[in-house]
Amino acid sequence: MKNISMFFMSLVFMEGVFGETVSVKEGKPITLHTGLTEIQKDDMMDWTFGAEQNLIARVIKENIPTIFDTELNGKFKGRIQLSGPTGDLTILNTRSSDSGDYEVSNSTNIFKKTFRVRVDSGLSPGAIAGIVVGVIVLVAAAVFGIYFGYRKKGQML
Ligand SMILES: *[C@@H]1O[C@H](CO)[C@@H](O)[C@H](O)[C@H]1NC(C)=O
Repeated sequence: MKNISMFFMSLVFMEGVFGETVSVKEGKPITLHTGLTEIQKDDMMDWTFGAEQNLIARVIKENIPTIFDTELNGKFKGRIQLSGPTGDLTILNTRSSDSGDYEVSNSTNIFKKTFRVRVDSGLSPGAIAGIVVGVIVLVAAAVFGIYFGYRKKGQML
């Protein structure tokens, strides 16, 4: 139920508040594109995460981008990359806790783009294998149970 209402909520807000909704499988990288061909000279782009808009990266044209990966208790430590001329942000090795709202804006705030990121945890191959083995064991137990159950009954007759 919660997911259904969230889905409709996202439909309502997608066009207005959130510029782009993107999803990624957990562990895979995701790149958020500014859509710019190039950051303007003397401009500065800030990438923020979450409702509190914590600064995670800052790109200043022709400078090495600054990554604030010690913010948020090192949440993004070693997992943030920026690409030079457009200021695109890449999150490596995504975790479900990376789900949320990201925003990029320039120094005057005239340029602003928001992204709603959803990291799908899905089932790992290990979990799927575990389920398959579990089902086989259950079926085997049921078959043996029925077999020995009948045998026992037969002996009693
Ligand atoms: C911020 O972005 C707007 C819209 O793209 C642009 O017109 C403006 O020049 C930018 N600000 C600076 C300081 O470059």
